Amino acid sequence: MPSFSIVFAAAPLLEELPTVGHGPSQAELPAAIAELRERRGAVILAHYYQEPEIQDIADFIGDSLELSRRAAETDARVIVFCGVHFMAETAKILNPSRLVLLPDLEAGCSLAESCPPEAFAAFRAQYPDHLVVSYINTSAAIKAQSDLICTSSNAVDLVSQLPEDQPILFAPDRNLGRWVQKKSGRPMVLWPGSCIVHETFSEATVLALKQSHPEAEVIAHPECEENLLDLADFIGSTSRLLSHSCSADAPAFIVLTEPGILHQMRRSVPGKTFLEVPGLDGCSCNACPHMRRNSLAKLWLCLKNQNPRIEIPEHLRQRALLPIQRMLAMSH
Ligand code: 13P
Ligand code: SF4
Repeated sequence: MPSFSIVFAAAPLLEELPTVGHGPSQAELPAAIAELRERRGAVILAHYYQEPEIQDIADFIGDSLELSRRAAETDARVIVFCGVHFMAETAKILNPSRLVLLPDLEAGCSLAESCPPEAFAAFRAQYPDHLVVSYINTSAAIKAQSDLICTSSNAVDLVSQLPEDQPILFAPDRNLGRWVQKKSGRPMVLWPGSCIVHETFSEATVLALKQSHPEAEVIAHPECEENLLDLADFIGSTSRLLSHSCSADAPAFIVLTEPGILHQMRRSVPGKTFLEVPGLDGCSCNACPHMRRNSLAKLWLCLKNQNPRIEIPEHLRQRALLPIQRMLAMSH
């Protein structure tokens, strides 16, 4: 399998805007972004792990599946993706005629990085009869080597739809893969990748929180390790954690995922208590360092300059599109 490189073009501005001195102050940024969004004909999509002030200005907030659906459907000329690189790249794969901007091009993902294309091609070659199901948290070069893409909200459902005698290779998150195996009853060969954020939680911290908040339910993202998922009352994607926290009877929730999601939880059900789980030794490593690279100032700048933009070689885009289209067709 050839290796691919992705080209990030520093393209000229499509429309020159008047220079705004040193740029708006922090307080002026929301209004300045709203004005630029209008002028650019842009839509701002944001993942739940973004800073609250970015979520507050977004046109749409969602999990990976919802955001890719929005990206595929939008007729906006410009898509500003407030998330990480693989998300913006998926938007470009799905909607190549749009200008897709990512406020900080360095916003990567430890899971996507844990699966380099050449090593994955060699791994895959050991299982020639296996169908390759890859999590959306992968580069375009990995998607191009996959048969089907899934997200945390549809992985169990999609794997369950595959013919029973079909052997499956799942990449790159071993924690999600293990959970999908358990839920679907389908054995799978797992690529040994993981997310630095979801592996920072400790059983001892969760048990201590449960002790001090016995009324709280534990809710967890399936990227967490198995011993933590075993403590959870509910497991699901970010959107599912949010909807569960709205509908469940519990008055409090211990939330085992990136704490950006707590902003929408507190807004949706102000009467309930939401507790984030700190990382090992109380560190703040539960905040995704990649997601948090985006800021209001970078969002304003990227709208102003229409850069950084995502560009993907067409042959790679077309190959990576197929398994994403299969996912969208198979998702309910
Ligand atoms: P979601 O599928 O819940 O959006 O998860 C994306 C992600 O990156 C989790 O770490
Ligand atoms: Fe990637 Fe983990 Fe950050 Fe999600 S939380 S974007 S999986 S590093």
